[in-house]
Amino acid sequence: MRVVLGVGGGIAAYKAAELVRALEKRGHQVQVVMTAAAQQFVQPLTFAALSGQKVITGLFAGATSSEDTLSSAVEHIGVAQDYDVLVVAPATADLLAKFANGIADDFLTTLYLAFTGPVVLAPAMNSNMWNHAATQRNLSVLRERGHSFADPEDGWLACGTTGPGRLAEPDRIAELVGRFAQTKHDLEGEHILITAGPTQEPLDPVRYITNRSSGKMGYALANAAVARGALVTLVSGPVSLPVPLGVTAIHVRTAVEMRDAVMSCLEDSSIIIKAAAVADYYLSAVPHRKMKKTAARLPLELDPTPDILAEVGQKKGGRMLIGFAAETDHLIDEARRKMVTKNCDMVVANLVGQEGTGFEADLNEVTILTRAGETIHAGPAEKSEIAERILDQILRLRLTLRAIGETA
Ligand code: CTP
Repeated sequence: MRVVLGVGGGIAAYKAAELVRALEKRGHQVQVVMTAAAQQFVQPLTFAALSGQKVITGLFAGATSSEDTLSSAVEHIGVAQDYDVLVVAPATADLLAKFANGIADDFLTTLYLAFTGPVVLAPAMNSNMWNHAATQRNLSVLRERGHSFADPEDGWLACGTTGPGRLAEPDRIAELVGRFAQTKHDLEGEHILITAGPTQEPLDPVRYITNRSSGKMGYALANAAVARGALVTLVSGPVSLPVPLGVTAIHVRTAVEMRDAVMSCLEDSSIIIKAAAVADYYLSAVPHRKMKKTAARLPLELDPTPDILAEVGQKKGGRMLIGFAAETDHLIDEARRKMVTKNCDMVVANLVGQEGTGFEADLNEVTILTRAGETIHAGPAEKSEIAERILDQILRLRLTLRAIGETA
């Protein structure tokens, strides 16, 4: 694949050199474009040597081309047409602001406007700059535009503070870029809302009830969907998995928080996949003080949590809704019952309580039931593979439902 790498003017510019290597290692051809500020941090010669190509320094007025650099008033149009992916690393606060507002005052910002292919942004900056309302607003404009993000990591920053803002690891950025080499982009234009993981329902300030869900299935779905071109929002309960690159995550703890997050995203979603293992009961009035042990038994009166799947089922309109059914007995009957009572278009059923598949495991084996009456078996296979099969079936079902005059 032909990748154009825009290097912004931040201290992390030196890491872009590692990114060139990581991209080349994956077989991509890289053309580097440096902003004027980037050249204050790293010499174009470094990138020219690594990429084997002249670096575009893009100084329109008073351009000073040397042996290692190229600049021209129309070159950005040629580059925009010739390359498959535009990746910008580090994407500084200044560059994000310019991209969000369509300001084109140098080669890279002009190239951005002329480029029609996928854009991957890897921001890096001081934590306060990252958290500033202006930067956050620019980020949401750019996310809405469908760009992929290699979000900055938490860590020690060159300015001597710690917090969010450190450029994502070059290998992770290269991996995200590599997804565009994938031939299947069949989820472009879809906005998929996925829930994952367990919920935790507090009993007092130090205790909670939860379940054995690891979140692996939901995260695998998010990863596969974003790779196939979807905009993905992941509402996640507490898990110890990294958020897949390019996915927008909303972290929640309880069923009530999960319900609120899902409802706030419903409007913008075209497909909702409810892979989370939501607790069915919770303590509605959690004591502020730790419960003390007494000799007596401890009776617990729990209330039902909001049934998020059922509520989405009522409000989904033309959106596709996919539920999960984790059962120990009567798998298919239970799954069919859930599909009808919760108004789902598809239910992914899996037997839990067996060794090696289901909760916590890397493998899964599922039966996919659809509103059109189909029963499809998948696995045992890696959860990443099962995720691809589920997404294939969602797209197929949508075609079937359209063909038989259903609106989904
Ligand atoms: N679910 C939900 N809200 C809840 C409980 C479950 O949205 N309060 C969703 C899950 O995300 C999953 C589906 O409902 O997609 C089925 O979850 P499961 O625990 O298997 O089913 P329940 O509805 O709890 O049914 P039952 O306890 O009768 O098996």
